[in-house]
Amino acid sequence: MKIITDISVLREHLRREQRIAFVPTMGNLHAGHLALIDQANQLSDCIVVSIFVNRLQFQPHEDFERYPRTFKEDCRALSAQNVKIVFAPNEKILFPTPQEFLLALPPVADILEGEFRPGFFRGVATIVLKLFNIIQPDLAVFGKKDYQQLHIVRRMVRQLNLPIEIIASETIRAPDGLALSSRNQYLNEAQRAKACGLYQSLLQIKQEISSGCKDFQKLQQNAVDNLQQHSWKVDYISIHKRSTLLFAQASDQDLVVLGAAWLDNTRLIDNLEI
Ligand code: PAF
Repeated sequence: MKIITDISVLREHLRREQRIAFVPTMGNLHAGHLALIDQANQLSDCIVVSIFVNRLQFQPHEDFERYPRTFKEDCRALSAQNVKIVFAPNEKILFPTPQEFLLALPPVADILEGEFRPGFFRGVATIVLKLFNIIQPDLAVFGKKDYQQLHIVRRMVRQLNLPIEIIASETIRAPDGLALSSRNQYLNEAQRAKACGLYQSLLQIKQEISSGCKDFQKLQQNAVDNLQQHSWKVDYISIHKRSTLLFAQASDQDLVVLGAAWLDNTRLIDNLEI
């Protein structure tokens, strides 16, 4: 496994590769990331993993500074996988001058996460497009844990005619159902014990819809009330159509319920397809 920080060195290494699979990350790797790499492994024998904490997708008051950076441990974990290249540029390499060209995104980027983290998807899409241009992969793997991100990347690839296949990887969960995330590290023991409550609320909605309930407003409100009673601060619990991510109508079939909520200072997100 090679660790490369420089764009021209990276391009030189990738020049003769037949089929490149790319897994973008912000590091602090956990079993969820390793599942993305497993998925990439099944499709290519040249896997590139990027590690870059992207300032563009954090608001000034968000956790950019305290975001866990564990480069050594990440490289150790990756070297046990079949990863060919770790691309770990610093900010000077990716932003030698301030990033003035930013993508303009459709309204789907302003709902759910976009409503509570304005500019987040613009930052994500811009960095993903830069990384795609640098690496020029044949395929890229994204986790369903970040469902809206996956949706937006897919749409970007389609509308900008990028010759890249986007592969979705299932969310990996702890035994109690909590979706694995780097931000879970912020939770203390008591918060960790409560953290699967978000998943359980989504699961409850999934079960009620599966048994025929169509009153989405009521299901959403009940979940919010229930979480609030357990001292969560809820940003949203919302049922959407999978294919468009528009708010779901009672007649829609392919649904996904998405949620974001705070346990004290830690914000967790999750979703379940229905
Ligand atoms: O999902 C993430 O970790 C990030 O949003 C990504 C795709 C690596 C872009 O910074």
